Amino acid sequence: MPQEVHVSNSSSSLGRGVADRGVAALETINLTKVYPGFWKSQSVTALRNLNLRVERGEIFGLLGPNGSGKTTTIKLLLGLINPTSGSASVLGRPAGDQLSRRSIGYLPEETYLYRFLNARQTLDFYGRLFNMNRAQRAKAIDFYLDFVGLDPAVRRRPLRTYSKGQARRVGLAQALLNDPELVILDEPTSGLDPLGTLEMKNLIKELKRAGKTVLLSSHQLADVEDVCDRICILYRGNLEIEGTIDQLLEVRDVFRIEGRNVPEALQQEMVTRLQQAGISEIRPGVQRSRLEDLFKRMVLDKRASERGEAPRSPDGGSGR
Ligand SMILES: Nc1ncnc2c1ncn2[C@@H]1O[C@H](COP(=O)(O)OP(=O)(O)O)[C@@H](O)[C@H]1O
Ligand SMILES: [Mg+2]
Repeated sequence: MPQEVHVSNSSSSLGRGVADRGVAALETINLTKVYPGFWKSQSVTALRNLNLRVERGEIFGLLGPNGSGKTTTIKLLLGLINPTSGSASVLGRPAGDQLSRRSIGYLPEETYLYRFLNARQTLDFYGRLFNMNRAQRAKAIDFYLDFVGLDPAVRRRPLRTYSKGQARRVGLAQALLNDPELVILDEPTSGLDPLGTLEMKNLIKELKRAGKTVLLSSHQLADVEDVCDRICILYRGNLEIEGTIDQLLEVRDVFRIEGRNVPEALQQEMVTRLQQAGISEIRPGVQRSRLEDLFKRMVLDKRASERGEAPRSPDGGSGR
């Protein structure tokens, strides 16, 4: 992945007129979707009275188990389906509006890419759809393939030979090609291994640094926990929980200290001291590194040694 990626926002044709402050990146009011069945009893309420507001520049996570209404919400925001009741707006315009659509990049849950084209041809195809001229396409294609970290050797191979992770990267590059202001990613980490997930999260953080708004969905809570500024959790079409990660995960009444190589005698002394002070639920113990961290460290070290470099650890080594 290139170290100094700069995703410019300057070339975007996206609704400059709607770029004023105070306009939410997206907003839904009592947004409801019922998929009709042949019989009334077969209809599915996929989303019920969703009220959501995402500010510009935020990374917002739409979380929830399978079938909770995440993809339905995204399709409503894109105007791909119509709400049963309620409304949705994107960058101050009604969902599905031509102008707002041009300012959105979208990575679908399943990336449908033409299997016989390679990555560059695929992006060239989309570039034409976006009315980019040849010079603009040539520049943007390599820029975004660098940005998503697709190996240059892979770029000229047909997509049918790609791993899930490589295909996901092409999908993301396609979503970014027209330099959108709002990037909507439906399950961006699905099918990725832990390292791919970490890299996807770093890309999402990079988008935030470039001033983009990101809406992402996931059913793997841990996968997005530390990239999102705010999340909501849907369950059976209802919004159950909403807030910043810090608000939601803060445990107020537990005090914690960690240290490396603490002598056993000192450990025992601290436990005794707490017991004497009448503290309950004392949980002493040595912390195990998480399996995910172990996996990432191994893969990164292997890759480094393949390149003849010294071993390195992922992302500052702070765990996830
Ligand atoms: N086209 C459709 N017709 C009927 N039911 C649908 C359709 N699309 C989704 N659903 C149902 O709506 C609910 C929410 O689906 P979805 O939004 O895809 O959930 P998620 O993305 O959170 O997994 C599920 O019960 C699903 O079966
Ligand atoms: Mg879905």
